[in-house]
This record gives sequence, structure tokens and C-alpha cells, in this order.
Amino acid sequence: MHSVMLRANALVTFSVAILALMCAMASLSDYLNSPSPTAQVQVLNVYRFQKKRNGDDEVSLTFNISANLQSVFTWNTKQVFVFLAAEYGTPKNALNQISLWDSILPSKEDAKIWIQTTNKYTFVDQGSNLRNKDFNLTLHWHVMPKTGKMFADKIAMTGFRFPETYR
Ligand SMILES: *[C@@H]1O[C@H](CO)[C@@H](O)[C@H](O)[C@H]1NC(C)=O
Ligand SMILES: *[C@@H]1O[C@H](CO)[C@@H](O)[C@H](O)[C@H]1NC(C)=O
Repeated sequence: MHSVMLRANALVTFSVAILALMCAMASLSDYLNSPSPTAQVQVLNVYRFQKKRNGDDEVSLTFNISANLQSVFTWNTKQVFVFLAAEYGTPKNALNQISLWDSILPSKEDAKIWIQTTNKYTFVDQGSNLRNKDFNLTLHWHVMPKTGKMFADKIAMTGFRFPETYR
């Protein structure tokens, strides 16, 4: 009896060790994967650019996103959360980050993106800083693994500028 218990215990310990090792290998394989994602975004149109009654600038725009995040997927990837943010500096905040669009990529097959869209979330500046302001469009992604730590990365696309005048 005693030895059966011992053996069962040893078996459990062994399985737990194997499981831990497999988890470690799974997350290690994520570290070893060096993905080479690509992204391009064009602003097709700024169709609304106004100062709201409270003085804050509000923008509506359409843009064209094409991205390929297939290489960030490994067999340990559960899903990838992706979002496009407008980023710019103002006297008040060194970095303003406004999310314009987001999506969840459940599989590698969904990780080739081509979409023309308007901003999904309202773009309001805290102030009237946007006329003639340079900004970046940054594609961020958060990889949610089946096991191990979540990790994130981004591609910044530079050289965008808001119009000089409200429209
Ligand atoms: C949108 O992006 C795709 C892929 O980069 C490109 O082929 C297409 O011409 C773009 N559309 C516009 C209207 O710029
Ligand atoms: C845009 O990104 C570049 C490179 O990451 C950075 O040097 C620059 O300060 C950014 N510009 C703005 C307006 O945030």
C-alpha cells in the first residue's frame, strides 16, 4: 500500500515536471521566434476636423491599413490583439495616444489584414493642438500565448500631419 502511494506520488511529480517543462519550452519557442511583421497605413481622407464647443479638436478620418502579422503566430499563440493608434506630442503630454481601430486575430489565417475604415473610436484631442500637427500612426499588437507571458510590440509609421485649417 505504502509503495503504491509512493509510486503514485512519484508519477504525479513526474507529470507535473513534464508539464512545467513543456510550458517552459512553449514560451521559450516564443522567445526564439523572431517575427518580421509588416504594416502600411495611408490616411485617405480627413473628412471632419472641428473644434468642439468646449474647445477640444475632433477629427474623423478614413484610412487604409494593410498588415501582415502572420509571423508573430507560433503554435503557442492563443490570439493576437491589434490596434492602430495616432500618437503625437503636445505641451501638456509628451505622448498622446488615441486608439483609432482595433481587432482580435484568432488565428494565423486572420493575420493578413487589409481594411479601409473610418476611425472606430472618436478622436478627440484634449485641447486645440491638432492643426498642422505631425503625428505617427502606430500599429501595436499584444500576443496572448496559450502558456507563458503576454508580450507586445509595435510598428510606428511616421510622417503624417493634420490639416492646417478646420473643415
Ligand atoms: C490600400 O492599401 C493597399 C495595400 O497596400 C493598396 O494596394 C491600395 O492601393 C491602397 N488603397 C488606397 C486607396 O490607397
Ligand atoms: C514618431 O515616431 C518616431 C520614431 O519612433 C519618433 O522619433 C517621433 O518622435 C514620433 N513622432 C511623434 C509626433 O510622436
